[in-house]
Amino acid sequence: MQELKSRYPILAQAKAHTHIDTETYDAMYQQSIEQPDVFWAEQAEKFLDWYQPWDSVSNVDLKSAEIKWFSGGKLNVSYNCIDRHLATKANDIAIIWEGDDPSEDQKITYQQLHDHVCRFANLLKQRGVKKGDRVCIYMPMIPEVGYAMLACARIGAVHSVVFGGFSTESIRARIVDADCQVVITADESLRGGRVIPLKANVDAAIAECPNVHSVIVVQRTGGDVDWNEQVDVNYQQAVAELPAVCEPEVMDAEDPLFILYTSGSTGTPKGVLHTCGGYSLYAAMTHKYVFDYKEGEIYWCTADAGWITGHSYIFYGPLANGATTLVFEGVPTYPDAGRFWQVCEKHKVNIFYTAPTAIRALMSLGDELVNQSDLSSLRLLGTVGEPINPEAWHWYYEIVGKSNCPIVDTWWQTETGGILITSLPGAVDMKPGAAGKPFFGVKPALFDKDGNTLEGENQGLLVMTGSWPGQLRSVYGNHERFYETYLSQYPGNYFTGDGAKRDADGFYWITGRVDDVLNVSGHRLGTAEIESALVLHPAVAEAAVVGYPHEVKGQGVYAYVTLMNNATESGALNQELIEFVAKELGRFAKPDYIQWAPGLPKTRSGKIMRRILRKIAENDLGTLGDTSTLADPAVVDNLIENRIVHG
Ligand code: WT7
Repeated sequence: MQELKSRYPILAQAKAHTHIDTETYDAMYQQSIEQPDVFWAEQAEKFLDWYQPWDSVSNVDLKSAEIKWFSGGKLNVSYNCIDRHLATKANDIAIIWEGDDPSEDQKITYQQLHDHVCRFANLLKQRGVKKGDRVCIYMPMIPEVGYAMLACARIGAVHSVVFGGFSTESIRARIVDADCQVVITADESLRGGRVIPLKANVDAAIAECPNVHSVIVVQRTGGDVDWNEQVDVNYQQAVAELPAVCEPEVMDAEDPLFILYTSGSTGTPKGVLHTCGGYSLYAAMTHKYVFDYKEGEIYWCTADAGWITGHSYIFYGPLANGATTLVFEGVPTYPDAGRFWQVCEKHKVNIFYTAPTAIRALMSLGDELVNQSDLSSLRLLGTVGEPINPEAWHWYYEIVGKSNCPIVDTWWQTETGGILITSLPGAVDMKPGAAGKPFFGVKPALFDKDGNTLEGENQGLLVMTGSWPGQLRSVYGNHERFYETYLSQYPGNYFTGDGAKRDADGFYWITGRVDDVLNVSGHRLGTAEIESALVLHPAVAEAAVVGYPHEVKGQGVYAYVTLMNNATESGALNQELIEFVAKELGRFAKPDYIQWAPGLPKTRSGKIMRRILRKIAENDLGTLGDTSTLADPAVVDNLIENRIVHG
């Protein structure tokens, strides 16, 4: 670690504008911890426009799961992302859209964004959507996904964006859980030249959702779709007749802004709930400081709007700061694997934020694809989603950044709303593979499993000992589950589900999830969800899913399946089950391998011993550990013998 530190001193971050240097970071961090309310009040005034000030900055009791920031304060998030910029930036570009096909792009000014969002908001109102109603958004990466989110924010509706790669069944479950009565979608989406039938997926999903009365359909490809006059609304036709003015709804800071479903270690996905004031402040402030964002720069985050990264760092954070944000419809490998770099050159991108899985995939294809493009506009690089291995870090730094751009590693979660741990450019050294240090107001700690605090250089469970404005407020419709999942383990603290190491310099190195959550190509998946999908198949009696290290995806999915007595093992059935999971959950959740398991290793009380299954999937047989509590040790011998050895 020492050696790496000296190789990448702060001064190597030559291109950083350094909003903040080391002394400023230390002083600001200190103040944010010692006088949090003073600190956050100042930031809330600086980063947001309020109709009315708050009654109190923070009202937090993690023990009773009550979290309030700026309550009594009134604001509107769409006003903050659009209207307040119009006086000086009406003709500045808010969104650069780059289509799946490189010949398609579009630039949307702040004035145009305003008009689109107002029309969309008026359309929602026309369909009866009111403050507090939930709206499901299932869209391609086109500007309209942003318009839809901001239109909801404008009228106080609560959006629930469902990633466009999710299957019919996943959409249905999310619509039902939040009782969404309106769905916004597109006819089809285009990714890597492939057509995905979004509208047809929605049609199938809402066949079992009697409360859905309107489906607003954006025409993206013009492809053929079924049409139900009672329910379906043609977006382009409808908004053409609506005014481009819509007064923003005055919202309380603690009114909900959106729900975003994410996977946990047990049960169905949880609707993580974020509110207007704290979330938007935290997204805006982290966007500015972490990406060292300066007026006029072109900023590109390659995430999808269906994940929290898309919410906070494609739309809410950048737009609140009046930035130019790039929205990319396609994939990194289409038309060829140089696409990211071609887009950087074409739009003169200054700040580029992507995931280690993408970096690893592109790295494996060689430097030539990068070197074909002029990347001289790049000034700062970011990474998110999983720990970045040093090899990928160096490639990103040297080949993409030409050893001249700081890399900000950013650790956070759907639940945290924004970045909590990072190497703040200009203030904190870069250490390849380390997430870095806490952002302002963030108090990480390492605990052992009994909740004892581990001091100094150490390794343990990563918790937050206090709140920050971007923290989730609840699990939609189930506050008890919110408490159980995050706050019950170590009362008074937020449990992240991650393990971490802290080095002698106070840097955090994330070691990965300590629960049954997988991270596959940056997609978060619950093993329980995949198991539930598998057992829905009539041939399956029982299933256990574990992750294993995968060179590109970070983790791969390995499933053990026990068949019903009347079913027979076959290659065809194996393939059928893999496709079955894709249909139930989405293609990204497909198991890489399914191993037939006549029995699963269980304790005498019937608990599946996943530790053993993980070792077998990893082909790491030397350290199976204690197997003395197994009900039937012979089961393990069978699994070892028939394990799938992969490359
Ligand atoms: C989990 C959260 C919010 C970003 C997108 C993923 C892992 C996230 C890092 C990082 C190491 C990371 C953690 C976390 N993770 N960023 N920079 N270094 N691990 O959001 O789907 O809610 O997943 O992603 O394990 O708990 P998410």
